[in-house]
Amino acid sequence: MKTVAVVGYGYWGPNILRVLIQNNIANVKYLCDLNKSRLEAVSQKFLDIKTTREYDDVLKDPSVDAVFIITPINTHYELAEKALLHNKDVFVEKPITNSVETTEKLILLAKEKGKILMVGHTFEFSPPVMETDRIIKSGELGNIYFITSSRVNLGIHRKDISVIWDLAPHDFSMIFSWLGEQPNEILTLGRDSVIKGNLDVAFMNLKFPSGVIANVEVSWLSPVKMRRTVIVGSKKMLVYDDTENVEKVKIFDKGVDIENPENFGEYQLTYRSGTVVSPKLKNTEPLKNELMHFIECITERKTPKTDGHSALRVIKAIEAAEKSSEICSYVKL
Ligand SMILES: NC(=O)c1ccc[n+]([C@@H]2O[C@H](COP(=O)([O-])OP(=O)(O)OC[C@H]3O[C@@H](n4cnc5c(N)ncnc54)[C@H](O)[C@@H]3O)[C@@H](O)[C@H]2O)c1
Repeated sequence: MKTVAVVGYGYWGPNILRVLIQNNIANVKYLCDLNKSRLEAVSQKFLDIKTTREYDDVLKDPSVDAVFIITPINTHYELAEKALLHNKDVFVEKPITNSVETTEKLILLAKEKGKILMVGHTFEFSPPVMETDRIIKSGELGNIYFITSSRVNLGIHRKDISVIWDLAPHDFSMIFSWLGEQPNEILTLGRDSVIKGNLDVAFMNLKFPSGVIANVEVSWLSPVKMRRTVIVGSKKMLVYDDTENVEKVKIFDKGVDIENPENFGEYQLTYRSGTVVSPKLKNTEPLKNELMHFIECITERKTPKTDGHSALRVIKAIEAAEKSSEICSYVKL
């Protein structure tokens, strides 16, 4: 079994630790956080786990195979770089770093060191997203025309990053992996409604080389929680709603067919409204799938599904989306 360390035990770190321990995925030797009181609570609960505020304790221990970096985004690059330099495999929470430049440096360093680098694009490991991926790639929806996505909720306002850096990695990672491409242009309209200088709502329009267009809405200001994606294809349409308890994915046999005109300028449209099917989904926890995948990759030395390159296309899109919101015009990637 691989020996690992979890670095960062704020809001998300406890979920990583819980899933690793409950499912016996890895031997968690260290928990590292700068905050002493957070560590104290853990050391009473998990007697076998060493707690430390010194990251170097983790790095210097040769028995540690890999580190999970679950700290705020602005610390990711430095912590991941150090881990790679100490020959550890690295799992970094999304977004992998805060710039294209540092992401490219990490990818290069991981390659030079022969180490595995994976980013926590958790949604790509969730059964409804994986099923949507299968459906799109099977051709059942036909050619994809466009995608719309809403990820809105009331809070939590982050002070260190904008809502784009916080929430858009989820939608971007899902959409780019479904389409197998990254956008070549992005237009953002955003607003810093509450904390001046920090966007809390953004509407992003993306254009892809294949012609697909997408609209992604992210916000920390909404009366209701929405996690809804609509994919419109030439044959069928799909709705993925992550707030649904059952039937998260629905395929609608709906669309419009155009008949060949008999005369120039004449055409007939036929609207189809057939059955709605909701595929049976696996009942597995996305985080468990994700962490097991990382351990499998470091054991078998396989390239992760969400490797540095998949992280990089998300960071490129976020940087472009941020830049576009400043100048409010289309930005080429
Ligand atoms: N995959 C997901 O669905 C998901 C969900 C939530 C958060 N996240 C990601 O997880 C990461 C952490 O988010 P959070 O909400 O838990 O943040 P947080 O601010 O609640 O917690 C971060 C923790 O890291 C610690 N920390 C900061 N710098 C450190 C350092 N140099 N060494 C050790 N510990 C340090 C802090 O003391 C704090 O306890 C972010 O990248 C975020 O985007 C991912």
